[in-house]
Amino acid sequence: MTSEMIAIASDHAGYELKQTLVQHLRDEGFEVQDLGAHGTDSVDYPDFADAMADALSAGPAQRGILVCGTGIGISIAANRHRHIRAALCGNTTEARLCRQHNNANVIALGSRTLGQEVAADCVRIFLATAFEGGRHERRVSKMS
Ligand code: RB5
Repeated sequence: MTSEMIAIASDHAGYELKQTLVQHLRDEGFEVQDLGAHGTDSVDYPDFADAMADALSAGPAQRGILVCGTGIGISIAANRHRHIRAALCGNTTEARLCRQHNNANVIALGSRTLGQEVAADCVRIFLATAFEGGRHERRVSKMS
């Protein structure tokens, strides 16, 4: 059985947390599509949100992780793409509910606002939680 491919991207502010999360993902048996940034030189977060949107369109990755300083800019940029449902999460309850109720396909995290352990827990729960469907399906389908 092949393991699931997870796409990940950040700007310069999210680079270090992204690197930590890449390692966590590999340790947990996921394949990783790293879309950059590839260092801490200043870049623009919309470019990496766009790269995530392209990657999820092309496959094989169907879910992704975005990181910037707050997670705000990169989630706003990602959500301009109709097929992206990016959830900015600051705790594990949000990481669980954005999957169960919103069928989020991208989790956005803030490197300046979250500890690395909280961020890793959010990612683990995001990836382990299924969409509940039912009444939520109708609501989610109204967005696409
Ligand atoms: C970059 O300095 C910072 O503005 C960016 O990472 C993010 O926090 C924007 O929302």
